[in-house]
Amino acid sequence: MSTQVHNQVRPIALSLRDVNKSFGEAHIIRGVNLELFEGERHAIIGPNGAGKSTVFHLISGQFKPSSGEIRLGQQLISGLPAEKINHLGLARSFQITNIFPKLSVYENLRLGVMQRFGMQYTLWRPIAGYVKVRELTEQLLEQVRLTRHRDTLGGELSYSEQRSLEIGMTLASDPKVLLLDEPMAGMSREETDYTVDLLRELTAGRTLMIVEHDMDVVFSLCDRISVLVYGQVVATDTPENIRNNKQVQEAYLGTEVAA
Ligand SMILES: Nc1ncnc2c1ncn2[C@@H]1O[C@H](COP(=O)(O)OP(=O)(O)O)[C@@H](O)[C@H]1O
Ligand SMILES: [Mg+2]
Repeated sequence: MSTQVHNQVRPIALSLRDVNKSFGEAHIIRGVNLELFEGERHAIIGPNGAGKSTVFHLISGQFKPSSGEIRLGQQLISGLPAEKINHLGLARSFQITNIFPKLSVYENLRLGVMQRFGMQYTLWRPIAGYVKVRELTEQLLEQVRLTRHRDTLGGELSYSEQRSLEIGMTLASDPKVLLLDEPMAGMSREETDYTVDLLRELTAGRTLMIVEHDMDVVFSLCDRISVLVYGQVVATDTPENIRNNKQVQEAYLGTEVAA
């Protein structure tokens, strides 16, 4: 028996302890507990309005929890400003594509890389001369497979290429933990498959938390899944166990799983 494996303590990359968030009278996030192991790919699924994006905003520092603790590794991050949390090793994308449409692909990625080093974008500094920035930008360009579009304006890329660019920008800070909010939303089957493949490659060795509605994506990409319903985690388990969980089927998956 593999007791040794079971007894191994896996380092925790991200944890939420009894996290609550209210907006005025509305108690939206209601005692969320979550632990992500280092290197795991973890999906958050749940119906619209369950609070998935809000959980992301709480982790990344856009919102402060009303109560509870969030830790990145051992470090308490709840209450810190978003920028500080980013510098500690957490990056996120938003549900809405968030790139600079009037800058080229290369310039978009370079901005991300410069932010990592705390550099401001100024017109008069010879930024092209910063060898390290250039090297890292080139590397990212290749990693997100956009080398042939280096001089294309962000706004002129196809939708899925824009999402690739956005993922590249979140990776520019070389984060330990990456949060992606519906990165495949609005994509065709083909684009989705392509992006899953890209994500698998780009997130190797990192910890990923992803909100995604497409169950094929979730089941093929992720090690574990948490189901969020009405601001509470009703289950955290492997894809297979989630698929067979009656409570989950009733609360969310319904016909998709039954079919
Ligand atoms: N800034 C806010 N102020 C008030 N209510 C909000 C705010 N942000 C989100 N909500 C509410 O919180 C609930 C969860 O929203 P959200 O986290 O976007 O859900 P999901 O991403 O799971 O679809 C919704 O009812 C939404 O209206
Ligand atoms: Mg959302």
